[in-house]
Amino acid sequence: MNALLKSASCGGLRLENAGQEVTLAGWAHRRRDHGGLIFIDLRDSDGVVQVVFHPDEAPDAFAEAERFRAEWVVSIAGVVRERPEGTANPNLPTGEIEVAAAAATTLNPAKTPPFDVSQDGPVDELLRMRYRYLDLRRPFMRDNLRLRHRAVKFIRDYLEERGFIEIETPILIKSTPEGARDYLVPSRIHPGSFYALPQSPQQLKQLLMVAGADRYFQIARCFRDEDPRADRLPEFTQLDLEMAFVDREDVIGLMTDLYVSLIQTLRPDKRVPLPVPRFTHAEAMARFGSDKPDTRFGLEIADFSEIAAASAFQVFASAVKDGGVARGFAAPGLASLPRRQIDDLVERAKQHGARGLVTIALDEAAGSLNALTLDHVRTPARALSLDEIKAVAAACGASPGDLILIVAGAEAQTAAALGQLRLHIGERLGLADPDTIALCVISDFPLFEWNARENRWDSVHHPFTAPFDDHWERLADDPGGVLSNAYDLAANGYELAGGSIRIHERAKQEAVFRTLGHSPENTQAQFGHLLEAFEYGAPPHGGFAGGIDRLVTALADKADSIRDAIAFPKTQIGVDPLFGAPSPIDQAQLDELGIALLSRSGEQEEP
Ligand code: AMO
Repeated sequence: MNALLKSASCGGLRLENAGQEVTLAGWAHRRRDHGGLIFIDLRDSDGVVQVVFHPDEAPDAFAEAERFRAEWVVSIAGVVRERPEGTANPNLPTGEIEVAAAAATTLNPAKTPPFDVSQDGPVDELLRMRYRYLDLRRPFMRDNLRLRHRAVKFIRDYLEERGFIEIETPILIKSTPEGARDYLVPSRIHPGSFYALPQSPQQLKQLLMVAGADRYFQIARCFRDEDPRADRLPEFTQLDLEMAFVDREDVIGLMTDLYVSLIQTLRPDKRVPLPVPRFTHAEAMARFGSDKPDTRFGLEIADFSEIAAASAFQVFASAVKDGGVARGFAAPGLASLPRRQIDDLVERAKQHGARGLVTIALDEAAGSLNALTLDHVRTPARALSLDEIKAVAAACGASPGDLILIVAGAEAQTAAALGQLRLHIGERLGLADPDTIALCVISDFPLFEWNARENRWDSVHHPFTAPFDDHWERLADDPGGVLSNAYDLAANGYELAGGSIRIHERAKQEAVFRTLGHSPENTQAQFGHLLEAFEYGAPPHGGFAGGIDRLVTALADKADSIRDAIAFPKTQIGVDPLFGAPSPIDQAQLDELGIALLSRSGEQEEP
């Protein structure tokens, strides 16, 4: 600490410091003039302390303090003392004491900030980003940055104790495809050639395994030029990790233990249900309609396909006959939902890919399922018999008073629509405990998914993921039936991390590229370096990566978006309003790079 300007920290003072002479420096957080005295809450990076200016005891300091306005940078010398009886503030860590000012200096006055820095309240996000250095002074953002530091430090310590070392990998590389577009960087020295920014260090960490690094990790910056989504940013940070000579249980075990330990250490007040449940991908889709289920509440999806197949209600029967399913769940206590709100649910189901939604309201007056008659039932599906309705209700655990929601159709669309409805009803009924972080592991994903638009198979994770050992033979004839050695870690409906056991043999990696439709020439041009490395003694290996930004968002008390976990994030459309990036560049710079633009648009503006 610079002894001239500052001998103690504002936020660090406690009752045991009473009687000490201190020099403090920081920002005038709040000011109150009261009973002839001036009270300044002085803030530094550790917190806030109350400073009292008395016009008779320290007239010069009092006169100086009269000039102080919000966010002025000031230095104060004075004595720490216990607050007068009845004036302690139990909500403030420094609330038992105050500093009686003897001297005060203005270090730098400040313009009136465009928003109130002393409050955590809502402020337009564009304004926050434009003045991010002020936004970061706000208490909750300061807390979030500290939490992030502690999370990363925990990860580093945890992994070091288990024999991992952190190795940096380059930012200027050749494209490593993870399914998004690359950000490209033109080379001045090699005109017409470009570097790509890594979408993740995937191939580099695999090369480190070939290099014998054995247990690698990195807090790695990743860049993906993808369309904006609420929990995705163009530039984000991963914990990237890879281990040699492991099977999938080794990696899942480490990943799970790391996250559980981290949450329990950083947020001991949160509940983490243990043991962490595991679902296969198929099970998660069937029960929760999501591959990242929010398991903090029930509303589990039940299968009614057998009942539907035999029903006179044609919508159900034909969906099953066409190879689809009929599934749904019970929304407790929502039987008397008004017509208009039921229409909203139907609309919502359609928005998420369902052809429709059938609701069955069971009148509470029935008392029990046994006593249910058709008079107690309200449903547009009039062809359903009472027995079928009772069977459906029994299958999803519905009682009188509940509303049953049913979607029939192709399995994937049905799952997706029901998954969204489940989240919606869960939120509406306030079922998810905000103080629980419910982790779960999902595995046994399909290796490929069919891309109907491009008429080809895509990797569900990335092309380096290994299939189940005994699924290799299906690769040529039944790519859609191949399951992968990949796994994800989800929490409260978000994907926190994902990884896999990798392919480590050239011929097998080539076979996967073939299935993905790459020509041998294309495979060689894009991935020749990795394939060659596999011929020089590549050990079996696997790993995972977890989003740090998402993790901190999940841990923080006040993080409305993933951007609240990052010091200088881009907006949802990839703009930095503080620096004004991206921005047009000089013709001279373009000339130097040998780049001619087809058109020159003006500065990007936020819509
Ligand atoms: P994946 O693409 O699943 O895997 O990313 C791993 C984790 O990183 C986070 N994440 C993101 N966070 C913010 N913005 C984004 N655009 C974004 N994309 C991903 C998520 C996700 O779970 N190389 C593989 C990992 C591996 O196989 O080891 C990979 O990057 O939390």
